[in-house]
Amino acid sequence: MTRVFVPGDAACVAIGADDIVAAIAREAKKANRDVQIVRNGSRGAFGIEILVEVETPNGRIGYGGVEEGDVADLMAAGMLDGKPHKKCVGPPEEVPFLKKQTRLTFARCGITDPQSLDEYRALNGFKGLERAIAIGPAAILDDVMKSGLRGRGGAGFPTGIKWKTVADTKADRKYIVCNADEGDSGTFADRMLMEGDPFALIEGMTIAGIAVGATYGYLYIRSEYPHAIVAMQKAIVTARNAGYLGSRVAGSDYAFDLEIREGAGAYVCGEETSLLESIEGKRGQVRAKPPLPAHIGLFGKPTVINNVLSFGAAPHILMEGGAAKYQSLGMGRSRGTMPIQLGGNISNGGIFECPFGITLGELVNDIGGGPYLGRPVKAVQVGGPLGAYFPTSLFDTPFDYEAFAAKDGLIGHGGIVVFDDTVDMAKQARFAMDFCAIESCGKCTPCRIGAVRGKETIDRIMAGVNVAVNLEVVRDLCNTMKFGSLCALGGFTPYPVMSALTHFPDDFLARERPIAAE
Ligand SMILES: Cc1cc2nc3c(=O)[nH]c(=O)nc-3n(C[C@H](O)[C@H](O)[C@H](O)COP(=O)(O)O)c2cc1C
Ligand code: SF4
Repeated sequence: MTRVFVPGDAACVAIGADDIVAAIAREAKKANRDVQIVRNGSRGAFGIEILVEVETPNGRIGYGGVEEGDVADLMAAGMLDGKPHKKCVGPPEEVPFLKKQTRLTFARCGITDPQSLDEYRALNGFKGLERAIAIGPAAILDDVMKSGLRGRGGAGFPTGIKWKTVADTKADRKYIVCNADEGDSGTFADRMLMEGDPFALIEGMTIAGIAVGATYGYLYIRSEYPHAIVAMQKAIVTARNAGYLGSRVAGSDYAFDLEIREGAGAYVCGEETSLLESIEGKRGQVRAKPPLPAHIGLFGKPTVINNVLSFGAAPHILMEGGAAKYQSLGMGRSRGTMPIQLGGNISNGGIFECPFGITLGELVNDIGGGPYLGRPVKAVQVGGPLGAYFPTSLFDTPFDYEAFAAKDGLIGHGGIVVFDDTVDMAKQARFAMDFCAIESCGKCTPCRIGAVRGKETIDRIMAGVNVAVNLEVVRDLCNTMKFGSLCALGGFTPYPVMSALTHFPDDFLARERPIAAE
């Protein structure tokens, strides 16, 4: 029996992975070869997807960029025995894009069968949880603090402090909520982890529950992620049947269980308080803070709300020596690794997990291979639709929360979207205002009205009407939105707009129409 791995990840399915599976099964039958096809997660090296891997006595051998039409040829060349072929990339872990990474959160993604508890356990699965049970809540909180982990959803708030606040708040019931709304443009790490290593998220949420004294959790997944929802549903049932969820977690005296809630597609429902409203069955509208969700959260109870990647890092941190290892990586106050997502117009897109500190230029040019279409880079948007556009002159900026903030940017959820020199930055600035106008929850005036006025004013600039005066109006509006909005949707929309104005003024000024002579 030969094991063949074809990713079942949604992105791979979208480009024909299921057809490849059918073709391999067909060709294997013809050749009278016994094969077991495993639907692994994606390793995240999009430049070589669909990556088909074959288990050989000398380890796994990969074949990259495989299409259905290649299968007969690959099989004839001896793919099932790891034989050479022009699509052979050798051992996948030796592919430079993968070799250069430090994978902790994504350690198993693309390697194991995501639904196999045995494979999960064989690669350190549940070791963090077992140790967490053994050391108890106070020591878990200590480890998470020591690790320096900061929330990966965008704001970068220290996870240990959040968990301790909930642990210290007295209540008859507390909740763990996982934010898997993943609304940022150019981000896909949450989805890939849920599809490629779902038990890691379950383990991380369970550890959080034990740490703060919560016995129930909600996993809020956007409805646009049907594959992730199915993967998580199956994994929750498997974990429950194996005793990792329920009244006695892994045979201990701790209880924890969780369920999935589907989002309905509003970007603002990724904001933590409107997400809580949404879970409660209400319209997704932002709550004023304070009170913090850590004090009064879901159903009025103290609640830990964290991103998928924050919970996904917890099992590694809780393993023996994990916190110190995590803390030893990174730079400044950005500790550990970040699963960075490279997208847009880039040759080698995908997940690149590495310690903080790598520069933007290294990520885009060395790792990403520059723009896919071969034209020069003009701008890179980091941190989703509320992130700033950086020109190549800022490519020496290290990937670090503070370094990006110092340059009026943010790293957000770690998404990088590359644009070549054909992009019109005035259009991008307009898009930012338009996006905010569409997605605004409507609760506060600077965002609800400001974004609409901002779009209208940029429309005038793009039509060449009073450009200099209208640019002043945009700057003024941005200030009002930045300092007067209730949440970061209105408060951060000025980042893409102002960065486009600051770094690419010609895209606006060149539109000025000469005043017609009388
Ligand atoms: C408009 C808006 C959208 C957001 N969308 C997400 C999201 O999709 N996923 C996420 O984890 N955090 C999102 N956040 C951040 C959350 O409010 C919150 O900070 C995060 O879930 C906390 O988890 P963390 O500490 O692990 O990052 C969003 C914030 C805003 C203002
Ligand atoms: S900034 Fe926008 S999204 Fe946030 S509370 Fe105000 S209106 Fe709602």
